Amino acid sequence: MAGLTQRQVSDFQRDGFVLPLDILAEEEAAELRDTVAGHLAVSRRRGGATAALAYGPKVHLLSSWADRLVRHPTLLGVAESLVGPDILVWGTQIFVKEPGGDTDLAWHQDALTYDLDSQGRLAAFRVWLALTPTSVENGTMRFAAGTHREGILAHRRGAGLQGMMRGDEATFDESRFVRRDVTLRPGQCSLHNMLVVHGSGVNRTDETRIAFAVDYLATSVSPRRRPDSALLVKGADTHGNFVLEESPDGDLGEDGLARCTEAVEMRMRRLQAAEAERRKTGTLTDA
Ligand code: NI
Repeated sequence: MAGLTQRQVSDFQRDGFVLPLDILAEEEAAELRDTVAGHLAVSRRRGGATAALAYGPKVHLLSSWADRLVRHPTLLGVAESLVGPDILVWGTQIFVKEPGGDTDLAWHQDALTYDLDSQGRLAAFRVWLALTPTSVENGTMRFAAGTHREGILAHRRGAGLQGMMRGDEATFDESRFVRRDVTLRPGQCSLHNMLVVHGSGVNRTDETRIAFAVDYLATSVSPRRRPDSALLVKGADTHGNFVLEESPDGDLGEDGLARCTEAVEMRMRRLQAAEAERRKTGTLTDA
């Protein structure tokens, strides 16, 4: 596993993101897209907790194919270049943007929501792997280069237009930063740290856009509140900052569902407490 070049690492440090990286061959990406579509179809048919958890935030606890993907040698090589040899996976998420949808995501920082310690804001990053082509027309992600050096910005909740799910919106002067649109072929990915400001657009094409995200972090990173859990995918964990998760046995099995439910509830309790604190301190306000 080759990992990133020195140039890619310095781009990531300067901009807060780097792209495009080749991860899967086109046939592998097509195969994974079919697997994801099957996973979502089965989950929808089952309904209940399976349907609620199918898109994330911990698909790697539900199904073996996702567990295998987060251990892909190329991804682990990339992760090692950025966070060192002891690596946790902390989240996995399927992003589907249907044609003609009206959802865009406002400019925001992931660090606001995920509430990691100050080291974790930079020693944690997200892989955003395209399973279909991504373009400005189909509402791909965009980054504001260098915004990770601004610290955590104030955000407003629900600042979008009526009926649009835009999430929290960062308050910053867009004109001071270079915008980069994430245009990728299937099997390519972008990487971004937890502080860089990003958003995404509306899908104006006739095709569904699908991406798979994996959150990696160094075992030395700690959540600001405990407990939370993560999966050790490389090296050793001598820090014990996260409860270690267990890989699923098969796809959408009962045990995986039970463990995933427990892990997601643990995560939600922590993030809800963090959100209450942000409202108190004024970093998050209602629009
Ligand atoms: Ni985000």
